Amino acid sequence: MKYFTVSAHKGDYTVFFDTGFTFFNSIKQKKGIWIVDRAVSRLYEELFDDIDPNDIIFVDVSEELKTLEGATMLYRQLEKKKMKRHTPLISVGGGITQDITGFVAATWYRGVPWFYVPTTLLAQADSCIGSKTSLNFDSFKNLLGTFYSPQEVFISTKFLDSLDPKDVYSGFGEIIKLQLIKAQEHGDFQTVTDKLNMGKQADGLLQLIYDSLLVKKEYIEEDEFDFGKRKLLNYGHCFGHALESVSAFTIPHGLAVVIGVLFANIIALKRKKISQEFFETLITEVLLPHIHMDVLEMQESFYGADALFQKMKKDKKRSGDGMALVLPKKDFKLELVQDISMEELQYGCRELEKVLL
Ligand SMILES: NC(=O)c1ccc[n+]([C@@H]2O[C@H](COP(=O)([O-])OP(=O)(O)OC[C@H]3O[C@@H](n4cnc5c(N)ncnc54)[C@H](O)[C@@H]3O)[C@@H](O)[C@H]2O)c1
Repeated sequence: MKYFTVSAHKGDYTVFFDTGFTFFNSIKQKKGIWIVDRAVSRLYEELFDDIDPNDIIFVDVSEELKTLEGATMLYRQLEKKKMKRHTPLISVGGGITQDITGFVAATWYRGVPWFYVPTTLLAQADSCIGSKTSLNFDSFKNLLGTFYSPQEVFISTKFLDSLDPKDVYSGFGEIIKLQLIKAQEHGDFQTVTDKLNMGKQADGLLQLIYDSLLVKKEYIEEDEFDFGKRKLLNYGHCFGHALESVSAFTIPHGLAVVIGVLFANIIALKRKKISQEFFETLITEVLLPHIHMDVLEMQESFYGADALFQKMKKDKKRSGDGMALVLPKKDFKLELVQDISMEELQYGCRELEKVLL
């Protein structure tokens, strides 16, 4: 089985890669309390049927689960189960199940061990490493959280067979962002389309997931706590998070990120940081084919700069009066800027609407 190890302040952890479910037996030996996405448990009943029902908590997944109320609901269930100090939590599901389990693991008894089995493409190719656990607060995305990595991560592409196309597209969104970040280091954009095509073949997907995580690994190991280099991983996120919130989370995270990457390039073009030719190649060859407007229920109100501004104001990366955005500059190297004005936001929203129409 393929694997690699990630260095983190809480201890190094290993990520295992497989195309089947043989690893599940070794997870069962960990004698933990399971927190499982109910939809996944129904689709893969056979994986859970020999686990004591007292050791499983099923969760109904939505962004509302990733809140203090969702965490309180889990604390109450753990209390009832008389969970011990060293009993691990075992999380099975997508990024939402990961975020809520990680947050509860970080805070219950001031921290218990946890293991993670990501079941969506987004979670497998991106969120499963990096130590971040996040909760939404009021209508603000990922405002609360901790850095608390799992002990081990087990990835199986077999889970992806049952994913809704919207969630496959969403996973590709984060993959595109990571592959673009890699490409900007070498200035070679052909590799991005080659890699994405490889991932569309059944036997290439595991390799694409592995390669995408390797890109993220380099950034999080150098800057786990997000003080410098890691901020560049937020390419597409500053605008993407705001758009997700404004859409009341009807736009899936990864697709909001690709739209956010497009928005960042619109602003970079306006600031003359990138050429018109580069802008057009990027959107026609990489971004637009992966936005899938047919599954997005975009409404005119989502392009409203005032509502987006209210959300972008709360961005954790914002340190000045303007809005924060990760922008490509000359040679497509990325940089975090803090001076996006309301006029630029309004301009960007108008241009975005034209491109996506
Ligand atoms: N902690 C981090 O570093 C980090 C990074 C990126 C994103 N995130 C968070 O991750 C969340 C998005 O994650 P996601 O896209 O995985 O969403 P998700 O967990 O909501 O899963 C998407 C949908 O897929 C279903 N599902 C899960 N596995 C399935 C399977 N194998 N087959 C069929 N259906 C399945 C879920 O029930 C849900 O309906 C966002 O809240 C985002 O903020 C966290």
